[in-house]
Amino acid sequence: MLSRKHLLGLENATREDIELILDTADSFKEIIDRDVKKVPTLRGKCVVNLFYEPSTRTRTSFELAGKYLSADTINFSSSTSSVQKGETLKDTAKTLEMMGIDAVVIRHSSSGAAEYLSWHMNAAVINAGDGTHEHPTQALLDMLTVREKKGTLEGLKVAILGDITHSRVARSNIFGFAKMGCDVYVAGPQTLMPREIEKMGAKAARNMDEAVEGADVVMALRIQLERQKKGLFPSQREYSRFFGIDKKRLSLAKPDALLLHPGPVNRGVEITSEIMDGAQSVINEQVKSGVAVRMAVLYLLMGGAGR
Ligand code: CP
Repeated sequence: MLSRKHLLGLENATREDIELILDTADSFKEIIDRDVKKVPTLRGKCVVNLFYEPSTRTRTSFELAGKYLSADTINFSSSTSSVQKGETLKDTAKTLEMMGIDAVVIRHSSSGAAEYLSWHMNAAVINAGDGTHEHPTQALLDMLTVREKKGTLEGLKVAILGDITHSRVARSNIFGFAKMGCDVYVAGPQTLMPREIEKMGAKAARNMDEAVEGADVVMALRIQLERQKKGLFPSQREYSRFFGIDKKRLSLAKPDALLLHPGPVNRGVEITSEIMDGAQSVINEQVKSGVAVRMAVLYLLMGGAGR
């Protein structure tokens, strides 16, 4: 089992825990391809998806992951709940816990919301993205996708590109890939590059092309317009011209380099449609890995029995 009761981020996760989640996810992948996608592992357990921000991939895949493992899954939307009447996050979570839930999956605009819940709950807390802090299951599914395609993560050059400052995906991926022995480079507009990036385990490339050159993995990030103050770059058209990834820029990477994007993609801004739908793109595989990783995390944190 995992060394921690909650999954709040990868900054403090051990390499052993990451490997255990990836190996468990690997073993769950075949369930997704079965005609009958159901094993009794988490029968009698209940998971609540507590989403205070929009989501397609994360919320749906956590719901499916729970269902495939026979857990009862409840989707809680802040817009149709008593949050609208002023109920606090802590009171909302405590109310749900008293109903007998075993795990809560939380997405919130505030960095630290998942950790805050973990102080007040006995149920397992899983961070599904908190502000600009971390999105650990996204990084785990990215690592699973890359490991499956490349056979190993050790020694790979990983380029993470774009809005690094506001991206919880970037932070979790830097921590995760660096822990697994990768050389992680970041690049993007200077206005979207955090200070002291090296302390997180990444190297700041001088420009986009330097980061991509010779890379095994090229990861474009979504521009987090909802978290940016105005004026960090002139326009989406200029962003695309100077910091977008197209066929020419991707050709600087190794010929068998993988192209990743966490989604949702702003087609033609972060990456061109041509490469998004091209042979090097593993964006659809990332989605499938997401279900397997979330099955593994639920299984390992909720004490699943047999498979
Ligand atoms: N990558 C990701 O978190 O996507 P959603 O916002 O659709 O969940």
